[in-house]
Amino acid sequence: MAETKKLLRALAGETQDVPPVWLMRQAGRYLPEYRATRAEAGDFLSLCYTSDLAAEVTLQPIRRYGFDAAILFADILLIPDALGADLWFVTGEGPRLSTTTTPADMAKLKGKDDIHDHLAPVYETVRILSRELPEETALIGFAGAPWTVATYMIAGRGTPDQGPAHKLMAEDRATFEALMERLTGATIEYLSKQVEAGAEVVKIFDSWAGSLKGEDFDRYALEPARRITQEMKARFPGLPVIAFPREAGEKYIGFAKATGADCVALDNSIDADWGAANVQADGCVQGNMNPGLMVTGGQALIDETRRIRAAFSGGPHIFNLGHGITPDADPENVTIMLEALRG
Ligand code: CP3
Repeated sequence: MAETKKLLRALAGETQDVPPVWLMRQAGRYLPEYRATRAEAGDFLSLCYTSDLAAEVTLQPIRRYGFDAAILFADILLIPDALGADLWFVTGEGPRLSTTTTPADMAKLKGKDDIHDHLAPVYETVRILSRELPEETALIGFAGAPWTVATYMIAGRGTPDQGPAHKLMAEDRATFEALMERLTGATIEYLSKQVEAGAEVVKIFDSWAGSLKGEDFDRYALEPARRITQEMKARFPGLPVIAFPREAGEKYIGFAKATGADCVALDNSIDADWGAANVQADGCVQGNMNPGLMVTGGQALIDETRRIRAAFSGGPHIFNLGHGITPDADPENVTIMLEALRG
């Protein structure tokens, strides 16, 4: 039977008049119904690990907007949590973790195959979603890329320049690479369980790829993405993979071919015409509107939606933002964007 889900058609290389659309962080604090369910769960991590509530917040933006894809509600930092690094969230500040910077810290982490008991509620969320999603809506599973997850594990928190991770790379490359290896293996096992539970696409979020330059980018952003993509496709033939090496700049060129990813997500520092000429030439691209327009709205939002659609109209495209929608976004602006895109 011919594929009917618009997202999967784009990932298979089809150019569509109206592209499929979803938004990074589409389940989130800008939605009053998300805030209500999060309050019911108590805190963010409890929400991630309570399958029926995590499924509920995943479904909320689908009900409200009819997006072409749902993304599993979870977080990239659940892997460090499952490996045994302590994880907690400080309201208004973000994540905190116990740091992993020495061979002794590495020795305390669990093996790549020992994460599944901890992550079982996430797999259950995927199973609920694959039953409850509308038939036209694709289900995206995801994980953080090893580098991005490592930056949080090494620093114990988010950092503006990923300085602690760069420092460990320079001063104790063996420990840094051991951590990257553990994360690469765990990511493959985690994503495999998501696919077995019903995820139809997987996305690899490398939010801090842009701070890796030159050869470091090739070794620690491109190579792990290639290994994860190749292994997932070996285990699940035909599985589409979206890679997001955020702020890769010129390194976006050839990234899909080198890794085997079916789609590369562009951040909003990339000019759409440049992305069409240099990245979409190799296949599907996702992106890349500035999330700030979901706050400010107005005619600029409508114009920019149409401009990005037109720029990528010559090839396979998934409309999205260049990064996550922010808590101060106006839910009404999402409706305005969808009307401009689909109307
Ligand atoms: O996109 C979705 O709707 C699916 C769920 C999802 C979340 N985080 C939920 C979340 C996804 C795909 C992520 C990915 C993620 N998490 C990334 C990569 C993408 C990116 O934004 O660059 C990163 C770096 C993280 C780590 C993380 N999680 C941080 C730094 C923070 C705190 C910052 C913030 O926005 O509060 C989180 C918390 C988080 N993850 C929230 C959500 C909805 C907010 C939690 C809350 O309700 O308070």
